[in-house]
Amino acid sequence: MKENDKRQPFTLKRNWPALIGIAAIPIILITLFAWSSGWINMGRITSKQIYDDFNNTISPFPSGYRRAHGKGICFTGVFRSNPEAAQLSKARVFTQKDIPVIGRFSVGAGNPHVADGTARVTSMAVLIKTDDGQEWRSAMNSVPYFHVATAEGFYAGLQANHPDPKTGKPDPKKLDEFHSKYPESVKFEKWAATAPWPDSYSGASFNSVNSFRFISESGKETYVRWVMRPRSPMHEMTEKQRKEAKSLFKFYSITFL
Ligand code: HEM
Repeated sequence: MKENDKRQPFTLKRNWPALIGIAAIPIILITLFAWSSGWINMGRITSKQIYDDFNNTISPFPSGYRRAHGKGICFTGVFRSNPEAAQLSKARVFTQKDIPVIGRFSVGAGNPHVADGTARVTSMAVLIKTDDGQEWRSAMNSVPYFHVATAEGFYAGLQANHPDPKTGKPDPKKLDEFHSKYPESVKFEKWAATAPWPDSYSGASFNSVNSFRFISESGKETYVRWVMRPRSPMHEMTEKQRKEAKSLFKFYSITFL
């Protein structure tokens, strides 16, 4: 130490608060990582619990497939906004001409080999990249709303739908308990009981789950959900047609204009 250096020599007695502060940083970071990975559970539903339950009827799960929406087909296309959207938002996606899009249609089931005539939910995912570096990603389902509002509700729904080993069907008592705890699921099931089953991805509509906050040039805010509507007419399938349809029937007639 130089003669005019005013710093005090390091001693444990004097510097213990600083040492505790330094040790606290990695401890806090490790705890946060452990919490977000589900190692510290505290009764939270983890993504692993959901994944394991999701595919509990397929064992071992085939490698190389997504745990949901495993069956799908990719596409490329062009996004063209109309001038009305540009009045709601100053985002480049609504002013740039002809933006390249990549996307994927999929069957919203856990089993990647499911017959698509048996899955209520089909999906469309899109990635739109504008020339100013913005990325718009949207995952949309062919249903107007999701059947539950929270991850806990989703997990409870999976559990309630486990087939009873005696009957091979979900236990009606457990289903009733689930419906009374998550009443939004009743609304979904009412919709699902009567809504038509489109015979192709090209006749279906797809809805995003999240809303986006659009901000116009003048600062006005509008909340908007992405909805993809087909130009081709929607052809409804009967239950008989669905049962008899080949596994990949929805993939045969994708003709977006
Ligand atoms: C708790 C609720 C949900 C769970 C647990 C869940 C789970 C998953 C999983 C595991 C994947 C596969 C991801 C991968 O391996 O790449 C996936 C994909 C997907 N999800 Fe969800 N999801 C949920 C809600 C939703 C909702 C509300 C929507 C849309 C409204 C949605 C639309 C999609 C789409 C379109 C894909 C396929 C993406 C692609 O083709 O690249 N999901 N989901």
